[in-house]
Amino acid sequence: MDAAEVLTTTRTVRRRLDLNRPVDIDVVRDCVRVAQQAPNGGDREASAWIVITDPVLREKVGVVYRAAFTARHRDAGDGRLVRSARHLAENMGRVPVLVLPCVRVPGGRFPAGSQASLWGSVLPAAWSYMLAARAAGLAAAWTTVHLDAEDEVAAILGLPADVRQGALIPTAHPIGDGFRPARRRPLGDVLHLNQWTEAQP
Ligand SMILES: Cc1cc2nc3c(=O)[nH]c(=O)nc-3n(C[C@H](O)[C@H](O)[C@H](O)COP(=O)(O)O)c2cc1C
Repeated sequence: MDAAEVLTTTRTVRRRLDLNRPVDIDVVRDCVRVAQQAPNGGDREASAWIVITDPVLREKVGVVYRAAFTARHRDAGDGRLVRSARHLAENMGRVPVLVLPCVRVPGGRFPAGSQASLWGSVLPAAWSYMLAARAAGLAAAWTTVHLDAEDEVAAILGLPADVRQGALIPTAHPIGDGFRPARRRPLGDVLHLNQWTEAQP
């Protein structure tokens, strides 16, 4: 796969995560190593990665995720995205590897005003992790619903108070392949050349 293919076909994989095929932890290590190359504020390297393979811990985190998902999406209907997300919520604890990209925040409290530089010190790396996983033949999903119960996950994993979670990325072998670029809004809707322009109705 060339870079463009990796960049355009790294999808949020939920139903096609292989729950039964073990993942080589060394491949996950390599993906995190690649992710560490992402830019980060002040070159402080404030990110930290929790990689969960232990089945008991995965199940505990999965229970928190499912409860948070159910609370948030109780009335979400039965659309394709919700069904896919529900499937993942029901199986989160069974995904072979759960990866939590985190960031160390002094005192564990985010400052008032823009938090872009803090999150910018971990989220680009989290995306690099997903790209690296895709390039290595794995599949993953960017999820955040558990953050509604971030403290519960922190307690399960023994996280210090200054470690805040940015995402929860279940990682597995994909069932099949054939991931394709997603349909996105026309470029003219999102790209403003020189000055802000309202999209034509
Ligand atoms: C900030 C963010 C939060 C997300 N949270 C969740 C989540 O909690 N659960 C989930 O199943 N998907 C989650 N997603 C995945 C999105 O639903 C997905 O990226 C979107 O539907 C586009 O699909 P694609 O990633 O396959 O292109 C999240 C994605 C992002 C970037």
